[in-house]
Amino acid sequence: MNASQTPDEPKTVAAAAQIIASGRLCAFPTETVYGLGADATNADAVLAIYEIKGRPRFNPLIIHCASVEMAERLAVFSPLARKVAELWPGPLTLVLPARPDNGLPDVATAGLDTVALRIPDHKLALELIEAVGKPLAAPSANPSGRLSPTTAYQVRLGFGGRVPVLDGGACRAGVESTIIRVEGDRLVQLRAGAISREDMELALGVRVEQVEKDGEIVAPGMLVSHYAPAALVRLNVTEPGPGDAYLAFGPTPKFPGPMRNLSPSADLREAAQNLFAMLHELDADGARTIAVAPIPAEGLGEAINDRLERAAAPRP
Ligand code: TXA
Ligand code: MG
Repeated sequence: MNASQTPDEPKTVAAAAQIIASGRLCAFPTETVYGLGADATNADAVLAIYEIKGRPRFNPLIIHCASVEMAERLAVFSPLARKVAELWPGPLTLVLPARPDNGLPDVATAGLDTVALRIPDHKLALELIEAVGKPLAAPSANPSGRLSPTTAYQVRLGFGGRVPVLDGGACRAGVESTIIRVEGDRLVQLRAGAISREDMELALGVRVEQVEKDGEIVAPGMLVSHYAPAALVRLNVTEPGPGDAYLAFGPTPKFPGPMRNLSPSADLREAAQNLFAMLHELDADGARTIAVAPIPAEGLGEAINDRLERAAAPRP
């Protein structure tokens, strides 16, 4: 099948909603990356997500809501959680104690007593959740362990046209949501993402701690090797060599091989937006190695470097 088209591609939110309401999967755009959506209350539909992604069952899904009211039916919000939720809609996922009677099957939350929730800041995503009338379970719409998709085309390529995609153009943020666990009066960041700790601290006036990395895996999906292109990835390269494809940042160097520049003006927001798309492109060029320029560690650089380190990690 042509990866660029599937026979039943939904052209409208209503068509996508009908697919999901009937218990099937449909990919949809969010402001971060494309999600692979299922009715979160339908155990069979949620299971199908794990199957088509090849995702380990111990790795729970983010449940997408259209309103705080919908979210409050699924989890218990402390006053601090309510305050953080004022940043919704946005690229922020909250891990909260699950309500025991929330209607979510165990497979959606991997049997944990917490649930990860977010309200995406994307018109089509919100309309889709409203139209289905139920929360949507949605991981990034890529085969497990591979690059996340920021366009409908990359979703079709990743799954060989096996899932319908509601096309909403390119995603604004380009990296996944930031995941925060609310622990009493503390906010702990489990995954760096599209909203930086600095921006959250500024908006909330509350410190956001970085999770300690040396213990057990805190967000079960934070496997060391992840976001892997087919090419090998080398980091902090200032002088790429023969055989490399180069992912530059800042002023474009002279380099004869395949090259993309995350942001010629060294803007981290632009770099985040381009990250997965450019890795996809260099990978599609057939590069054996992708050499990546150093990226500053502040602000959104935290999320960008996290994804790059996982892309470069030894593969299982
Ligand atoms: O931006 C995003 O967050 C995208 C879009 C589609 O919303 N979704 C996304 O989903 O990145 P996924 O499945 O690729 O990553 C979800 C992460 C995993 O690392 C998972 O382990 C973690 O969220 N997670 C889910 N439930 C959790 C929980 N109860 N406690 C801790 N981590 C959890
Ligand atoms: Mg993912």
